Amino acid sequence: MSGPTDTRPSEVWTPPREVVRRARVKDPDALRAEAERDFVAFWEAQARTLKWYRHWERVLDDSRAPFYQWFVGARTNVVLNALDRHLATPTRNKLAYIWEGEDGTVKTYSYHALAREVAQFANVLRSMGVRKGDRVTIYLPRILELPIAMLACAKIGAVHSVVYGGFSVEALHGRIEDSGSRVLVTADGGFQRGKVVPLKQVADEALRRAGIVEHVIVVRRTGEKVPMETGRDFYYDDLLSLPLARGNDCPTEVMDAEDPLFLLYTSGTTGKPKAVVHTHGGYQVGVATTLAMCFDLRPEDRFWCAADPGWITGHSYIVYGPLILGATSILYEGAPNYPYPDRWWRIVEKYGVNILYTAPTAIRGLMRFGESWAARHDLSSLRLLGTVGEPINPEAWHWYHRVIGRGRCPIVDTWWQTETGMFMIAPMPAMPLKPGSATKPLPGVAAEVLDEHGHPVPPGEEGRLVLTRPWPAMLRGIWNDPERYVRQYWSAYPGKYLTGDSARVDEDGYFWVIGRMDEVIKVSGYRLGTAEIESALVSYPAVSEAAAIGVPHDVRGNTIYCYVILRAGASPSPALAEELREHVAREIGPIARPDKVEFVESLPKTRSGKIMRRVLAARARGLPEGDLSTLEE
Ligand code: WT7
Repeated sequence: MSGPTDTRPSEVWTPPREVVRRARVKDPDALRAEAERDFVAFWEAQARTLKWYRHWERVLDDSRAPFYQWFVGARTNVVLNALDRHLATPTRNKLAYIWEGEDGTVKTYSYHALAREVAQFANVLRSMGVRKGDRVTIYLPRILELPIAMLACAKIGAVHSVVYGGFSVEALHGRIEDSGSRVLVTADGGFQRGKVVPLKQVADEALRRAGIVEHVIVVRRTGEKVPMETGRDFYYDDLLSLPLARGNDCPTEVMDAEDPLFLLYTSGTTGKPKAVVHTHGGYQVGVATTLAMCFDLRPEDRFWCAADPGWITGHSYIVYGPLILGATSILYEGAPNYPYPDRWWRIVEKYGVNILYTAPTAIRGLMRFGESWAARHDLSSLRLLGTVGEPINPEAWHWYHRVIGRGRCPIVDTWWQTETGMFMIAPMPAMPLKPGSATKPLPGVAAEVLDEHGHPVPPGEEGRLVLTRPWPAMLRGIWNDPERYVRQYWSAYPGKYLTGDSARVDEDGYFWVIGRMDEVIKVSGYRLGTAEIESALVSYPAVSEAAAIGVPHDVRGNTIYCYVILRAGASPSPALAEELREHVAREIGPIARPDKVEFVESLPKTRSGKIMRRVLAARARGLPEGDLSTLEE
């Protein structure tokens, strides 16, 4: 297989003259060089394009590194830029969102309508006692109430914590508990592949485990009857019709640039949920700048980021980035192949989508159905295609480029993370592309590939990807765990941020990200920790020990294999294996369901007791097991 580790000289795609002509940044190298001379001044100039209640005294304070601060002393609110400032311009009458339900229902919101409902819901939250700094957990399907709830929190200075609607009981419980949320926003259910996803039922089960939630707000989506607890649970539409919600009057809270905007949980190397903290000031500068630079988003564009708003991709590039730029975004509720594999292409044609942003796993999933599904639709509105989440293999790149982009559209491969908040390594449309490479660090961003001693590796060699200077949308820490922030990201190499990825840089300075080096598995672009899966398994009474590994898969990138040691008295059976797969799906979510559970008598461990996943992974793939000198069992 050719891929990121291929050593042959790679193919180069040069953008057509038309693409360069309309690109916002005509000379990417020149802009990069300019930002390199003074990266702080570069970010300051970007920040000046946004609105602030009060400007900063200092752009960057690194005196307490790695606890960096950006736009110190500035007052703002992301809602000031995402909604408020548009209300005095023609953007007020523009569509902010076009939403299509899986059942074909269409709903649109102008900026005016969106701002109005956000203000009303913000009033509802306030009336429930939500104040500046309080956390609110949001657990919703892909419906417009999701961005509305996020924006309503931001407007009153509350900190939102969105939990992806595909997560299940224990994942939700752990996140509610860790964030200390007293209010939960959820829905009766959602639609996926024509079936109802029972969100309220999962939420009720999670709330039985977490006793801190006082109010639950339930959006009606499926219309099914769900149990409502008197005094605790309220329907969203009922609340919006109360006198206290009516009127558009809800002042936007004046926030410090460094005040937290949201928490977002992501997987790391332990089973404990870990929330990354992002702020109002630097984050808005980072997402708006990168969206304009890399996707060349124009006022006349229709932009479709097909991710879920519940992930960082959705936070930055469905909600905050596009709204700050006054764009029109598409949001689609359901599955890409429902009811037929041309659903996405139908949407592109119907709404005249100009920019489509998705993940390699989705492309590979749709590739399976063949070219005819895309061929029967007019996709000529597409101008640019984006990808994110994992390295894109050449086959998927070429299919996306030829079958969807009809050979005309640049493929903007964006490398970034929940922690970075914004694109970090990505092309601008006027750059030559190499399929499988995210190209170069963006202007103002600096990255290196290092060996274990902290020396840059020579071109073409694999090493650890690090970021060597702060950036405005960077995480400000891990919620309630500053030590873990320092240990996990800033301790391997002093002053440098450890991404957890391996990569190489070629002779032209192009970065090729290879994959995770830590105990994180990417399944269909979703980030899962081996420790989370293992702790779900051992929460099952019959299980004594467990190890989870990722095994390569054609469509999903990786699938999960689990090795389980049973407690004395329990006996292995296919039914028990099935029950354990189901148990993991119930606790974490269907995305974490192991492909295979194998019962074993022992696990390969080091003398210090650490499971050697490398050995298990080699065994699962039928490869040599490598150096076993540290193996104890
Ligand atoms: C990890 C971060 C950032 C939004 C979605 C994922 C992998 C991400 C790429 C890319 C190769 C990529 C990395 C990274 N990744 N984008 N363009 N090429 N790998 O966010 O869940 O925080 O995962 O996704 O391994 O560390 P996330």
